[in-house]
Amino acid sequence: VNAAMAPPADGLWHNLRVERALCDPPCAATEPTAIGVRDGRIAYVGAIDAAPPEFAALPRHDGGGAYVTPGLVDCHTHLVYAGDRAHEFAERLAGASYADIARAGGGILSTVRATRAADEETLYQAAARRLRHWLAEGVCAIEIKSGYGLDLATERRLLRVARRLGDTHHVTVRTTFLGAHALPAEFAGRADAYVDRVAREMLPVLAAEGLVDAVDVFCDDIAFSVAQSERVFDAAAALGLRVKMHAGQLSDLGGVGLAARHRALSADHLEHLSARDIDAMRDAGMVAVLLPAAFYALRDTHAPPIDALRAAGVPLAVASDHNPGTAPVLSLLLAMNMAATLFRLGVDEVLAGVTRHAARALGLESTHGTLGVGKPANFVLWDLQSAAELAYWIGAPRPRIVVRQGTIAHRAADAT
Ligand code: NIG
Ligand code: FE
Repeated sequence: VNAAMAPPADGLWHNLRVERALCDPPCAATEPTAIGVRDGRIAYVGAIDAAPPEFAALPRHDGGGAYVTPGLVDCHTHLVYAGDRAHEFAERLAGASYADIARAGGGILSTVRATRAADEETLYQAAARRLRHWLAEGVCAIEIKSGYGLDLATERRLLRVARRLGDTHHVTVRTTFLGAHALPAEFAGRADAYVDRVAREMLPVLAAEGLVDAVDVFCDDIAFSVAQSERVFDAAAALGLRVKMHAGQLSDLGGVGLAARHRALSADHLEHLSARDIDAMRDAGMVAVLLPAAFYALRDTHAPPIDALRAAGVPLAVASDHNPGTAPVLSLLLAMNMAATLFRLGVDEVLAGVTRHAARALGLESTHGTLGVGKPANFVLWDLQSAAELAYWIGAPRPRIVVRQGTIAHRAADAT
């Protein structure tokens, strides 16, 4: 369906089995359940007989017994870039490590070269082709990071493309400025000067242009130090922007403690994470974003400390981390399977990880992530029995119907 043509979802959707754990407020134990949509918002969840009388005059949509979840949320992607890194995949198969390739000027920097050379339309078209995969899987909100430009003009181009994707596809896009993703070649040996450029020039300009919803830093031994990350976070704070951090992917520099002091929305990756920083995350109300596709693609063996995070009560989100280097994955559902299989998340945790907790990792908890009365209508009808099937099938489930931003955005027949 062309987003501009999608019919409104207003009316009473009935004959549904809704995911009770994600109803907000909790819905009575009636089944089948109905969801009432009015003016593009969820206005009612409950028994069809108890629906407010105003729905009598609105259309009825028979859900045919479908299982219903909130629209999915992918809270960590690097969706906009040019080129690919299939050649580096081949090098890794021949024995090179991700860090070796990065230190030799490949890795993120090879995507930066391709991206700088691409115009806005080329970047837009490539990202729009990729985005279709997320939309077909029932994703209703997606975070898109910059970070393959590493200069003002190209970072701006990436963020503009991200904004445009949201406008043209009727999907909620949250932009994250990741200028501190890697050290660009022209700053080799001058990391502090580059961080200055990010914090004092790029971020304030892009924020003033309304292109930045949040700010991220790659804090790791092949990227930026804790002190450098702090300068970027201070600049974000001065602009009133929330922060998040790529942390603990290859090494633990202790950046999560800094992120907690800055009340970060999330820390992401977290394969290497200390007990002290887990407590700091909990105390700061941060979300732990797990990225099992990157773990899988790098053949990592050191899983994040899931049990300790769970025991501390840190909310766990699951995201694709789509990027051309470490996570060339075009499926959030596959990342869900990997979170279960590789990280041993339970079915309910996986589902909360791509809905309630993912929304919170983006600061979108008031509009996304639950079947919440008053929230914009974002929900998915699946031809599945339960959440277990969402995590269980590898590469198969497709929604029957996706209601996104109050419109019927996809039906199974056009999900291909
Ligand atoms: O999330 N960790 C840093 N950034 C990406 C990798 C980006 C790339 O290799 O192009 C990640 O894994
Ligand atoms: Fe990432």
